[in-house]
Amino acid sequence: MPDLYLQIADQPDSVLEAIAASMEDRISDPAMQEICADYLGRLPGPGAEVVEIGCGNGSSTEMILRHLRPGRLVGIDPAEGLLARARKRFAARDEMSFASGNAVQTGLPGEGADVVVAHTVYSHLADPAAALAEARRLLRPGGILAVFDGDYATNTVALFDGDPLQAAMVSTQRNLIHDPYIMRHLPGMMREAGFEAPESRAYGFVQTERPAYIQSLMARGVTAAAAAGDCSEALAQGFRDETDARVEAGRFYGAILFACHAARKPA
Ligand SMILES: C[S@@+](CC[C@H](N)C(=O)[O-])C[C@H]1O[C@@H](n2cnc3c(N)ncnc32)[C@H](O)[C@@H]1O
Repeated sequence: MPDLYLQIADQPDSVLEAIAASMEDRISDPAMQEICADYLGRLPGPGAEVVEIGCGNGSSTEMILRHLRPGRLVGIDPAEGLLARARKRFAARDEMSFASGNAVQTGLPGEGADVVVAHTVYSHLADPAAALAEARRLLRPGGILAVFDGDYATNTVALFDGDPLQAAMVSTQRNLIHDPYIMRHLPGMMREAGFEAPESRAYGFVQTERPAYIQSLMARGVTAAAAAGDCSEALAQGFRDETDARVEAGRFYGAILFACHAARKPA
């Protein structure tokens, strides 16, 4: 899939700003806050050494801070523009730092982390097996890797069979997600990478009345589709208009199935 996140370090600031705003829309939804409270609340708590892979502008980092209260947190991301936003956001927090790197090469020392978290990152990775190996290297024996992401192949905005707006969601998946099936493969991949059998939890996420996140996701998706030549700008605008019209009329429905796989490195 031509996921633009595969070239995230080369994206202009306008794209990074749209991503940052969309991440804020998602994390501020009370349903997503409940989901984060559940999966992060199961991880080792206060004082832990935490590495966040793909921290972006720090939206998910806020949730990690709230629910884990780490002794130390290092955020890693390949997009300098997003890292700059995260650094500014947490400038007053001495226990936090942010570094340029990626899921396969973090540049961090081995066996220093109690917890590694990746919040909606693995679906964008070209080599998730190498990312699992790097996460295992970062963890102390007994440490936990938590991978949270969408089972994006099930995304729907359709109100009936053949709903043309579903094509906008399919286009969004094609241009913003590298592997919409990754969460189905990860439990097996985690075991193959040397983790104990993961504990998996699923979370339905439905937006209707105030669908700020799915609306912004689709707007970014069809904009990327037009930029990639998948469709004309006129069609992308039509998709954005139809989405906005459904929201305005109170007829919008969007659903994403999220999941968390949390696996322990053997002690
Ligand atoms: C959907 S955003 C999620 C950001 C953040 N975790 C959040 O939920 O607010 C995906 C993030 O993964 C980062 N990313 C993309 N490719 C990556 C890679 N190879 N390794 C680590 N992070 C990557 C992007 O820069 C972006 O910040």
